[in-house]
Amino acid sequence: MGRPLVLEPREKITSLRLTSCERNEMDARAEALGFKSLSDYLRHLHKAAVATEKNKETNIELEKYGTLIESHSTALGKIYQGNSLAYMHSHAGQNSVDLILTSPPFGLVRKKSYGNEDADAYCDWFRPFAEGFKRVLKDDGSLVIDVGGAWKSGTPTRSLYHFKLLIMLCEEYGFHLAQEHYWWNPSKLPSPAEWVNVRRVRVKDAINCVWWLSKTPFPRANNKRILSPYSDSMRTLLKNGYKAKMRPSGHDISSNFSVDNGGSVPPNLLAIANTESNGAYQDYCRENNIEIHPARFPALLPEYFIRFLTNPGDMVLDPFGGSCITGMVAEALARKWACVELSSEYIRGGIGRFQGNVEEAVRGRQAVYSINTPCSLPVNEEVVPLVADGGAAR
Ligand SMILES: C[S@@+](CC[C@H](N)C(=O)[O-])C[C@H]1O[C@@H](n2cnc3c(N)ncnc32)[C@H](O)[C@@H]1O
Repeated sequence: MGRPLVLEPREKITSLRLTSCERNEMDARAEALGFKSLSDYLRHLHKAAVATEKNKETNIELEKYGTLIESHSTALGKIYQGNSLAYMHSHAGQNSVDLILTSPPFGLVRKKSYGNEDADAYCDWFRPFAEGFKRVLKDDGSLVIDVGGAWKSGTPTRSLYHFKLLIMLCEEYGFHLAQEHYWWNPSKLPSPAEWVNVRRVRVKDAINCVWWLSKTPFPRANNKRILSPYSDSMRTLLKNGYKAKMRPSGHDISSNFSVDNGGSVPPNLLAIANTESNGAYQDYCRENNIEIHPARFPALLPEYFIRFLTNPGDMVLDPFGGSCITGMVAEALARKWACVELSSEYIRGGIGRFQGNVEEAVRGRQAVYSINTPCSLPVNEEVVPLVADGGAAR
């Protein structure tokens, strides 16, 4: 992968006199921290020094939602500690953000479990954020929300909170559902074990909903930015050509079908294993005795939407910043960014993401996961009766 994109060409050359010992030490340190060159390392040291100076000056006082503290800054982005309502309602300009990409907390859903009370409470809590999103998002921008579903405690039934949230955002705040995506985590363990493994009345819950919303029906996008490699059969077809004919389904497959467009348009099912238990972020947290964020999403999730929906230089906001993976990916892709996070502990870990080479976050990688069609094992129904009480008793 090449040098990070910079908005201005680097034309100035400076020579620096060092002893060979100094030079060796600096090279060794740069390499240990993952910098590709001494120049990258020196630029990083400079930015870190400037950011520390600025942090002393920048404490933004906001009456209503508390204080925002600029905890870290890079060439392209900033991490703020505080309530993102302060950022969206006061700090940021109106129509200043091209993409809001986030995963809000959903812990409070589990606390209440009667009727739709949990979902209604969640929507009430979310309303000021929805107002903030409307305020800061540009008309041709996108709002992408990753929400995991939740089980109602004590029953094998699901909360409706994420569907109610979607309907509220569209019906009350005028967002458009550009397209729902589903993030399939192939490495997700069966849960809750009681319903899936013990009583055997539910199946493994392995997807998160990802609502892609927009202020107008026509947010900027280009699916050619996120193509997948062609399958073997498609490659054979492209090589041997395709005879235009009508399919049994009635679809008229024209000869355009055999044009090589560089890859296939992916489905709205994003197969991304969330397996990262070891890596630079975790190492940094362990070395510095920092709590590892328990609910991180993998770098590929923000990478997909940032590439799909923004250009270099555009502004990306994560108002529930967590470990600041969105900021790191945005930085690696040369987008401007801001992450706002309440917890100073999670921010300490998030800052660690910027100590090494951020480009690591978007190093090309390909994995292929397979999934069986349903009912692919024979079963004798006589010996496998239904659980007659639906799992009410153990
Ligand atoms: C699901 S986590 C986000 C994790 C993040 N996507 C990652 O991969 O690291 C949600 C985060 O939102 C933070 N949070 C909750 N309310 C907030 C608020 N009002 N302003 C800023 N952050 C908030 C929580 O502390 C939590 O870290």
